[in-house]
Parts: sequence; C-alpha cells; structure tokens
Amino acid sequence: MSAEIFTKVKQMLEEVQNAAPTTKEQIEQFRIQYLGSKNVLKPLFGEIRNVENERKKEFGQLVNSVKIAAETKFQTLKDQIESAADDAAAQEMDLTAPGTPMPLGARHPISITMNRIIEIFSRIGFTVAEEREIEDDWYNFTAMNTPENHPARDMQDTYYLKDSTQMLLRTHTSSVQARTMMAQQPPIRIIAPGRVYRNETVSARSHCQFHQVEGLYVAENVSFADMKQVLLYFAKEMYGEKSKIRLRPSFFPFTEPSAEMDVSCFICDAKGCKVCKHTGWVEILGCGMVDPQVLENCGIDSKRYTGYAFGMGIERQAMLLYKVDDIRLFFENDVRFLEQFKAAL
Ligand code: PHE
Repeated sequence: MSAEIFTKVKQMLEEVQNAAPTTKEQIEQFRIQYLGSKNVLKPLFGEIRNVENERKKEFGQLVNSVKIAAETKFQTLKDQIESAADDAAAQEMDLTAPGTPMPLGARHPISITMNRIIEIFSRIGFTVAEEREIEDDWYNFTAMNTPENHPARDMQDTYYLKDSTQMLLRTHTSSVQARTMMAQQPPIRIIAPGRVYRNETVSARSHCQFHQVEGLYVAENVSFADMKQVLLYFAKEMYGEKSKIRLRPSFFPFTEPSAEMDVSCFICDAKGCKVCKHTGWVEILGCGMVDPQVLENCGIDSKRYTGYAFGMGIERQAMLLYKVDDIRLFFENDVRFLEQFKAAL
C-alpha cells in the first residue's frame, strides 16, 4: 500500500514538472488543480495515516515538494503572461500621438519688473539688500532726517503696531539705507527691493501696499553728476536706448538737493499721449544726494563721504511698461490678468 502511494505522488511531481499550460485558461486550470481550495494534494495529506511510521516524514516532504513545485511553476507562468501583456500594450502605444498639455505658470508682473530693475543695477555693481517690513520708527523716519512731529511725516502716514508708537509698517524702502549704513562703512552700493505700506485709500492709482526699489551709493567723492549718469543708464536699459531723462527740483527730508526724475515718454515717443498727459515726460522716481545729517545719524563721517540715493515704485514702472491702468489688478491676482505675462518671463 505504502509503496503504491509513494509512486502516485512521485508521478504527480513529474506531472507538475512537465506541465506546460500556455493560455490564460490553462494556467488557471493548473492553479485550481494543484493550488485551489479543492486541489489534488489535499487528499494525499489525509493518506499519511496509511503510511508506516518510519516513512511518514519522507511522505510528508514528498507531498510538500509537489506543492512547492506547483507554486513555483504557477508564479513563473503568471509572470510570463503578464510581461507578455505589457509588451503587447507597448506595441500598441502610439508614440506620435500629441501629449497632454501641462498648464504653465507665469511670474507675477511685479516680480518680473522688480527682477529687471535689480538685473540692470547688478550689472554696474549694486548688490541686493533686503530688510524687514515691520520697522522701528527710528529707521523709517528719525534716522532719515524726519524727526517726530516733522510735517514731512504727513506725506507718509502708515500703520502702527497695536500698543506701540515705535513699531510700524515701513512706508518706504529708505529704511534699508539706514539699516545698511548702521551696519557697514562705505563704500556702500546697494539696491533694496521690497514691500511698503501707506495709509491711503485704495484707488486705481494708489494702494495701501505696494513695492519699491531703493538705491544707495556712498563713497568718497560721489557727485550729483555720478547719480545723473547712473539714472540715465537705468532709463535707457529699462525704457529703451532713445530715452532721455530730466531732473526737477523736489524735496525729501533725507536728500539734499532732491529731485524727481522724469523719462521721455516711451509710449508715444515723447510726442504726447494720455500716459504722459501730453507733456512727453513721465515721472519715474525720486532721488538726491544723501543729506549729511543722515550720514551722521548712521555713524558715517559726512566730511569724508558723500552719496546719492533714489527710490521708485515698482507698480508704477510695471503700469507704464505693460500699459496697465489700474494698480488694483496687481493685488487681485485674477489668473486671467496674470496669464498675460507668460510671454514676459
Ligand atoms: N523714499 C522716497 C519715497 O518713498 C523716495 C526716495 C528715495 C527719494 C531715495 C529720494 C531718495 O517717496
């Protein structure tokens, strides 16, 4: 009896080893036969009680080897058929079919304009200085020669922090001038971009928050002519080679003398249009020679050093460059507006 059953199992092992199912159905048939819930091996395990004691172990191992052989074969066949299916799918793939388009983002027009200004000044040795937006009264006003109760403070009313008369949202990037001069001695040549705030009613032309770029150059023998030349270079790079500039006397507490700079209207070629209000000129920035008092306030010897500074609103430059007539569009972030600047990347 025992020998007979051994032969039967050995035959089964051979069958498994020789089995060569090819189609999906045949493979499934093979699985059901040897590994399914009613597989042919199960009854064999029951037969173990008919095997004499000293061969029980051998018998168990033999039946088990059939099971393992079946499992291995099934796994190999399954892998083969799956990779064949993958190959078939790959054959069917149409490599000439158009791809699914990926929506491209765009930089914000203010970033584009800001980067452009920074790039123009970097080329002539200005390095970027960035500072805090929540500023100490001293850096924003007092150091910049605008002491408490000075009437010029009215031009730049701002937001103070709750319970503080000292901490405020900076009204201009000029505070970076004071921060830089307090931290280092000349020569200083910086460009300071950033966000500024003013207590102003929001309209098409003004906003309670906007961006500026400040420039500061302090060294020995810096003159007004140096400033004029650098600003002319900027105007040509920013608004076109044909640009002209003019300086009109003005007032800022921290510069003396002070000026407003106009650039010849690049929209109408200075012939006169709505943007330049038919004057041929558009106002671009404020500038001047750093007031000696500001240098002294910041610990710089005003007898040895002189300097110039300038500041401009980035929204204003962007409005002129891209012919945008409402400043609020820059803050609403409507994608239909922003998408138009993709090409300007
Ligand atoms: N801070 C001035 C403003 O906000 C601009 C300016 C900067 C003028 C530097 C002169 C020099 O209006």
